[in-house]
Amino acid sequence: MTPQIEISHVEKHYGAFHALKDIDLTIPKGSFVALVGPSGCGKSTLLRSIAGLESITSGDLRIAGERMNEMPPRKRDVAMVFQSYALYPHMNVLGNLTYSLRFKGVAKADAREKANRVASTIGLEKLLDRYPRELSGGQRQRVAMGRAIIREPKAFLFDEPLSNLDAALRVHMRMEVRALHDRLGATSVYVTHDQIEAMTMADHVVVMRDGRIEQQGSPLTLYDTPANRFVAGFIGSPAMNFVDGHGSEDGHSVRLDALPGAPVLPLDRRVEPGRPVVAGLRPEHLFSGGETQFSVPIRVVESTGSIAYYTTDTDPELMLVEQGRGKLRSGDSAALSIAPGDIHLFDPMTGLAL
Ligand SMILES: Nc1ncnc2c1ncn2[C@@H]1O[C@H](COP(=O)(O)OP(=O)(O)OP(=O)(O)O)[C@@H](O)[C@H]1O
Ligand SMILES: [Mg+2]
Repeated sequence: MTPQIEISHVEKHYGAFHALKDIDLTIPKGSFVALVGPSGCGKSTLLRSIAGLESITSGDLRIAGERMNEMPPRKRDVAMVFQSYALYPHMNVLGNLTYSLRFKGVAKADAREKANRVASTIGLEKLLDRYPRELSGGQRQRVAMGRAIIREPKAFLFDEPLSNLDAALRVHMRMEVRALHDRLGATSVYVTHDQIEAMTMADHVVVMRDGRIEQQGSPLTLYDTPANRFVAGFIGSPAMNFVDGHGSEDGHSVRLDALPGAPVLPLDRRVEPGRPVVAGLRPEHLFSGGETQFSVPIRVVESTGSIAYYTTDTDPELMLVEQGRGKLRSGDSAALSIAPGDIHLFDPMTGLAL
């Protein structure tokens, strides 16, 4: 696969503040890559560095094989789509769509024809005469994307483009953005702090923390084999439960000292007897249907009708997920079991997966 964007050993300092630390990332042509991580981890900084809106302190940035480090933003041939749509309020949709072309000197009729084509791609044909204030949030977001599409850029850079929309529209628009990406054969880099958005939209997810890439891979690779406790806790919803324990005497099971009755759970791999570990148990894996391994009292029940969430009365408290309306009530005891392959283990000191 041809790399479209290549980022190698990129560092960014804002004065004394170290915002990007040794970033290595290759974005193949045609791929959809999500950058995800908590607020302040450097997602926007990385995206803006690709766009040229920030300079990088060291390292290399290439787009379509060409070194971009000192290249001004307008020559990088990438298009950014922001959360605040940044539409020109005094121009109608047509004016907003054609502005960049007119600016580049494209003839009016040609620009108009291109705008019509883009408008029909994204369902704005009937709105070309409207002004931004006469559009809904979703429609404005579409105009913002149309404005990026019309430039036929080498890559689309999205910075939390859906975070101003209500929940239902977000879910709808994320499908639209992904479908549009596929139709255009585009290369997209998409920043979000919403891991569900990242997991459902992207081919490749990059998890960042404190200016560093913690792990990158396909959505299910991150879910199945998180490299460390941070990624394990960040990917998956509700979040993974973490329980202190240690390797038991047989070397093939883990004893969860922190839970009632200190249950011993078989593993599908070896662990050194006596070794302290943190076990990671996903909420959706604890009703495995196998023979009961341990029981915990339920404190809080939350049901959406299709899924029930239980919070246990233990220390640490566990989150459990059951499909359906939920059979358990507060005060009941939940009979739990987990498949050996679903138990994650982490080093208590380093947080690295064992
Ligand atoms: N111009 C600047 N000068 C100094 N520090 C900055 C500057 N811009 C960003 N930072 C810092 O760099 C870090 C990363 O910021 P960035 O905007 O990339 O975070 P983010 O991951 O996009 O967060 P969010 O999810 O809140 O948008 C933050 O700690 C921020 O305070
Ligand atoms: Mg940001």
